[in-house]
Amino acid sequence: MNFDEKMGSKAQIWAVGGGKGGTGKTFLVSRLAITLAAQHKKVIVVDTDFGGANIHSFFGIKQAPKTINHFFEKKEPLENLLIETGIENLQVIVGDYRSISSGSLNVALKSRLFRHIRNLDADYIILDLGGGTGNDTIDALLLADRMIVVAVPEITSVENLYQFIKSTFFRKLKTVLGEHGLRDTVKDIWTDRKKYGIKNVSEMLQYIKNNNAPINAILDRELADFAFYVVLNKVRNSMEIKEGFSIRSICIKHFGVDTRFVGYIEYDIQFWKNLSLIRDLSKMHISQSLKKDVLFIAENIINGDQMRMTGIKNG
Ligand SMILES: Nc1ncnc2c1ncn2[C@@H]1O[C@H](COP(=O)(O)OP(=O)(O)OP(=O)(O)O)[C@@H](O)[C@H]1O
Ligand SMILES: [Mg+2]
Repeated sequence: MNFDEKMGSKAQIWAVGGGKGGTGKTFLVSRLAITLAAQHKKVIVVDTDFGGANIHSFFGIKQAPKTINHFFEKKEPLENLLIETGIENLQVIVGDYRSISSGSLNVALKSRLFRHIRNLDADYIILDLGGGTGNDTIDALLLADRMIVVAVPEITSVENLYQFIKSTFFRKLKTVLGEHGLRDTVKDIWTDRKKYGIKNVSEMLQYIKNNNAPINAILDRELADFAFYVVLNKVRNSMEIKEGFSIRSICIKHFGVDTRFVGYIEYDIQFWKNLSLIRDLSKMHISQSLKKDVLFIAENIINGDQMRMTGIKNG
C-alpha cells in the first residue's frame, strides 16, 4: 500500500460507473473520498451523474450555494464551485443538470467541462457517474486514470456491467482509430463478424491489428493502461464474492481487456435500517468492517493490484 507515493502536480482522476442504477456507485464514491481524505490526501468529488445528481445527499449538503450550473450558465471556473463537506481535505462540486434541455451535453461543453476537471488542484478527483451506457457517462469514465465499475452479485447487474465495459471499450477503440481515419472500422467489422469468423471482442481487436499493421503500435500504447477496476457491492455471503473473479475472467476472455477485481463491500443491513431512521446519509453509522472493505479497495486501486482467491473471508 502506498498512500504516500508521490503523485506529481496533477491530480489522479478516478471515475465510478457501472451501467445499472442503484448498485452503490455514489455510495462507493463517498466512501472512497472519505478514505483517501483520511490519509491526508486532498480530494475533490465531482457529481457527473448527468441524469440524477445526488452526491450532495451523501455528504449532508442540503442546499449548495453554487452548483455545476454556474459553470455551464455563468462560465464560472470550477474551483469557484467547491463546497466544503465538513470533512478535512474533502470538497465536492454538486451536480445540477436541469438546464441541459436536450438531455445530453454538447461536445464543446463536455470537452470544456473535462478540461476544467483535469485542471482542478487536488491529489484525487473522483467522478460520480450515472447509471446507463450513454455517451456522456462513458466519456466521463474514459477521462479517468482509474475506471472503477460497480456491480451487485445479481444477473441483471452483471449483464449491465458487461454491456457497460463493452460499450466503453468500443468507444475507446473508435476514438483511437478515428484519429487515424478508421472511425467506422469497429462498427463495420463487428457487424460483419460472422463473415470474418470473429467470435468475440478480443478476436475483433486481433483482426483489426492483423489488418492494420501501421496502427498496431498506437493501439498497444493507447491500451497499455486501459483497465477496469471491478468492485462488487452488497455482497451477502462468500459464494457471491466469487462473482467478482468470474467477471474478471469473462472480461479478459471475451473483451481482451485488463479487468481487475479490486474488492467487495458487504451488504450492510444496519445501514439500511439506519437510513429510514436518520434520513441523512452523512450521519449514518458506518461499520468497521465496511471501512476495512473500502480501505482494501482503495489500496488496490492505487497500487493497480487486485483480490486473490485466498483473500475471501469465510461467511
Ligand atoms: N453495501 C451496502 N449495503 C447496504 N446498502 C447499500 C450499500 N451500498 C449502497 N447501499 C444503498 O443502496 C442505495 C443505492 O446506492 P447509490 O445511490 O450509491 O447507488 P447508485 O449506483 O449511485 O445509483 P444511481 O445509478 O441511481 O446513481 C442507497 O440507498 C445506498 O445507501
Ligand atoms: Mg448515483
